[in-house]
Amino acid sequence: MEEKKFPVVIAEDDIRRRVRELAAEISRDYAGANPLLVSVLKGSVIFLADPLRALSVPAQVDFMAVTSYGGAGKKGGVVRIVKDLDLPITGREVLVVEDIIDTGLTLAYLLRTLAAREPASLQVCTLLDRRVRRIARLPVRYVGFEAPDLFLVGYGLDHQEAHRNLPYLGSLPEGA
Ligand code: IMP
Ligand code: MG
Repeated sequence: MEEKKFPVVIAEDDIRRRVRELAAEISRDYAGANPLLVSVLKGSVIFLADPLRALSVPAQVDFMAVTSYGGAGKKGGVVRIVKDLDLPITGREVLVVEDIIDTGLTLAYLLRTLAAREPASLQVCTLLDRRVRRIARLPVRYVGFEAPDLFLVGYGLDHQEAHRNLPYLGSLPEGA
């Protein structure tokens, strides 16, 4: 068996299975609609591509990038949009796709900003939800997995921009 770089927290097969379930659920919920999937760069790019290809409804994609000063997860951290959407969202069914929600502060800011543009609906789909660390109250419609309180890498998630390419979710050893 191939040696894994990091201890496996969620295996490739389990991700694949869960992504298919989520895509089926999203397709049911958005039947007859043409949702706009908004991916928050860069972590959610890998996750976005999988359910997107498994959707049975037409969908469009757009990207946003934000930075958090004082660090995402720190109370009072200021979030700034560094890349805004290309498409208008007024009157559209918008589904924000995230890699992981931790404190939720980044996403709370983003949702406020997007809600002000008056989409027809605004929902969130996250691969991972670390609910124990949540500070901001958020409506999260689709959750892939509950995340343990370990620093995770792989399947889009990085540590200092590395390891996004791993096909599974692994835990970064403490002090790495
Ligand atoms: P929040 O504002 O605290 O919810 O921050 C969420 C963001 O922090 C995510 O979108 C990730 O970019 C990053 N993040 C949080 N936990 C992890 C992790 O375990 N591995 C990699 N990135 C993480
Ligand atoms: Mg992110």
